[in-house]
Amino acid sequence: MARLLAPFAVVASEHLQNGIPRALPNHSSSIGNRGAKNQTPFQYHDHKERRRGVRDWGNKPLSDVDPDLYYIMEREKHRQWRGIELIASENFTSLAVFEALGSHLTNKYSEGLPGSRYYKGNEHIDQIESLCCSRALAAFHLDPGKWGVNIQPYSCSSANFAVFTACLQPNDRIMGLDVLSGGHLSHGYQTQGGEEDLLADKIHAFLMCDMAHISGLIAAQECDCPFDYCDVVTSTTHKSLRGPWGGIVFFRKGLKAPGKSGDTASVNLEKEINFAIHPTLQGGPDNNHTAALAVSLKQVCSNEYKEYIQQVKKNAQALAEGLKRRGCKLVTDGTNNHLLLWDLRLFGITGNLLEEVCEACHITVNKNAVYGDSSSWQPGGVRIGTPTMTSRGCNEGDFDTIAEFLYRAMQIAANLNKGNSKTQSKNEVLGNGEILELRSKIEEFATAFEMPGFDVPQ
Ligand SMILES: Cc1ncc(COP(=O)(O)O)c(C=O)c1O
Repeated sequence: MARLLAPFAVVASEHLQNGIPRALPNHSSSIGNRGAKNQTPFQYHDHKERRRGVRDWGNKPLSDVDPDLYYIMEREKHRQWRGIELIASENFTSLAVFEALGSHLTNKYSEGLPGSRYYKGNEHIDQIESLCCSRALAAFHLDPGKWGVNIQPYSCSSANFAVFTACLQPNDRIMGLDVLSGGHLSHGYQTQGGEEDLLADKIHAFLMCDMAHISGLIAAQECDCPFDYCDVVTSTTHKSLRGPWGGIVFFRKGLKAPGKSGDTASVNLEKEINFAIHPTLQGGPDNNHTAALAVSLKQVCSNEYKEYIQQVKKNAQALAEGLKRRGCKLVTDGTNNHLLLWDLRLFGITGNLLEEVCEACHITVNKNAVYGDSSSWQPGGVRIGTPTMTSRGCNEGDFDTIAEFLYRAMQIAANLNKGNSKTQSKNEVLGNGEILELRSKIEEFATAFEMPGFDVPQ
């Protein structure tokens, strides 16, 4: 019997194939059915009937209202559960976060900040956002007298752009890394406590850190802390932090980050950053996101979360050792965080080919440039992260098994390459016997682990 997350109904057995929901039950309905006659409350004068009419459109589960969409979502659930997810920027969040994300809070407009909204009726939303902000400061061990936070950005790219909008005038400059050197598309800027603070201090610049990947490690005090020397810190909330999808900006209030020269000019970007987020770049915040982020930040403050992050790092090291023991080359020869970069050039294959073969085997990794590459579209490496499978309870031994799966996928890719992969169609890759054999081992391995957030047929 299928155990599924409420309020989803159990999938009827005739729609299951090997425990997985089949393709859409009825394609013809997938674009809507204008012709169908629905009950509407306004057909009735009787108050009781009108109430029933409202329930008819407003209180039905997704599986009844839109089976097409429901089945696609069920199949995605199975994809997540049956495979090994190793995208370093992803994670599996919790049922509590899902519950807060899909709620009645989406009904409310709350442009502005707690205590100063454009619309009335925001007393509860104000409480939720204030709670979320104070948990955000607590999660990163920040003094509310010295740091402020805005949790409204829809994503980290929007958060970064809001910071640029707040800090820069036309013709001002941004200094950072380009994409091939490890920067992100939205800025190309990353700092790890090097000499950047000294330089920023010298030229009277603001120093910003986008900690999107490592924010979970920073909160758990398991890596260098950018708050000691930066003026602004941005992040996603859905990567190692294990929250809902979104962005966040922390800004220093009062004195500027104390530079190595001892310069402590005053800085207060609060007004500019808040104004850049709303009304300049965004409308109202997504209150579901705010509530879900508040839940995940509460989890981030727990001892269990610190233990989780420590395990994420141990697993990344076990994976690195496992690959190296099998003769693989890693950029930087290992890792001290949640991800590693596998240089595939030794085996004569691109990250694109391994990513493709891994997907066919039900492992998800992503192609990534390695030092010396001239294109991030045909790079010589793949990036592999441990946060997601650690959320499913994998330990070092499991990651050694994952290293073996990855190594095997690489061997298959190298063989395909010898046979000139360019002429291999996607169907040929999917029908390859070695891939099918590996895929079945991988699915057997993955389905033996729990899935946070939802249940699936066992
Ligand atoms: C360092 C960094 N900054 C920003 C982003 C973009 O985040 P979002 O997708 O939330 O815009 C990413 C995404 O991977 C990232 O790695």
